Amino acid sequence: MKCSGAAYIYTIGCQMNVYDSQRLMSILKSSGYEETKVLEDADIVVCNTCTIRHKAQEKAYSFLGRLGKLKKKKPHLISVIAGCVAQQDGKNALKRLPYIDIVIGTQSFSNFAKLIDQVKKGRSKIVDIEPQDMIFEIMPDVSDVIDKGRSRFVTIMQGCENFCTYCVVPYVRGKEKSRTPEAILKEIELLGSSGIKEITLLGQNVNSYGIKENNISFAQLLKKVNHIDSIKRIRFATSYPKDLSDELIFAIRDLEKVCMHLHLPVQSGSDRILKRMNRGYTKADYFSKIEKLKKECPGIAISTDLIVGFPSETKDEFNETLDLMKQVEFDSVFAFAYSDRPIAPAAKFSGKVDDQEKSLRLNELFLLQDYYTDKNNKKLIGKIEPVLVEGKSKKTMRTPGDAEENMKKTIQMTGRTESNKIVHFAGDNIEQGRVVDIKIEQAYPHSLWGTLAGA
Ligand code: 5AD
Ligand code: SF4
Repeated sequence: MKCSGAAYIYTIGCQMNVYDSQRLMSILKSSGYEETKVLEDADIVVCNTCTIRHKAQEKAYSFLGRLGKLKKKKPHLISVIAGCVAQQDGKNALKRLPYIDIVIGTQSFSNFAKLIDQVKKGRSKIVDIEPQDMIFEIMPDVSDVIDKGRSRFVTIMQGCENFCTYCVVPYVRGKEKSRTPEAILKEIELLGSSGIKEITLLGQNVNSYGIKENNISFAQLLKKVNHIDSIKRIRFATSYPKDLSDELIFAIRDLEKVCMHLHLPVQSGSDRILKRMNRGYTKADYFSKIEKLKKECPGIAISTDLIVGFPSETKDEFNETLDLMKQVEFDSVFAFAYSDRPIAPAAKFSGKVDDQEKSLRLNELFLLQDYYTDKNNKKLIGKIEPVLVEGKSKKTMRTPGDAEENMKKTIQMTGRTESNKIVHFAGDNIEQGRVVDIKIEQAYPHSLWGTLAGA
């Protein structure tokens, strides 16, 4: 095929956007483009955007501003805004960015190649944000799969119908729909045979996988992925607390490739705030799921998402969130200051918490979490952990008690435990993608240090 030029994709946002950017790049490659990592070299630039919080949206518009300057110097450049901001703002994005050629929403990827052709024929300012009933299927590009590491995301479902009051996702990602197990397994098999060892299955609420389509359950899907020989580890995100089923807890317990780690966003420790958020569970419901999980899967790592300063959250209600953290002792926490999203209902809620107070609460929360992260990391000292090797460490870490000259001789490697903790260890240039047993010797706030077990 004749080369159409160089393509550059700038990705903002979540794992699903990373996956979507890979799909967009696959489409670009099948339209004759080659990937470039240098923005200035590109003939087509895609900004794959996120609007979950105001800051993410502004990051997109600021990149697109830079793109405008580039387009002045390079008028043939095709400029594309894709993803959640595109879906949310539609033709309004063109008012702010009149030089954009294509605005493509989250569900319109099947039209992407066609839209590029139309731009080449002289059209511009095309907006395609029509919701689709079907998920567009395209096999991943595996030509340079290993260069990007041994781990890959695979989206198994799109959209969300939970309508948490602060969240834009139901409006920008549309109705919930699941891919067929056949399409998912075919993709994972291809990735596995290309050298990928770890798969993270993605969906806004994996527990409702396949329900609408009357297909197999998420736990049954995990069982099928577990059978794929080339894949060594399976992760998934996100589970919604109210829908976390016993079947899934048992699958985590019983399927050897499914990592002992669950990301279970709780958002708040206050029942009143949870209700206002429309989360559909209470603090007590959340605790009972955690208890069950810890009972069935001893040692499981649990992480969560939290929002501070939701409209009308009092200091006492925030303290309830801290109390919940003390009770659960999460391995890690992703916490955010509440951000008004004009299309989400909470934007109209009274009792907005001011920015300074939100950042004070956030700092207090992170300080508390540091204590539990450290405590959980220290629990691993002396234990032998299977670690998926990612490659050589970027930074040299001092082996505790090691002399300077020994440090130079040993190669510092890095990898991850099942609980997704980073481990540095001295190894002899071990192949990326292997799972090795590491004895954990030291724990630091953000990583562990260990040695090859039996070495
Ligand atoms: N403000 C702050 N955080 C938000 N999240 C979603 N919407 C908002 C918002 N408007 C957080 C939630 C969610 C995570 C992906 O982002 O914690 O779980
Ligand atoms: Fe947003 Fe709630 Fe859906 Fe998660 S479950 S994507 S927070 S609406």
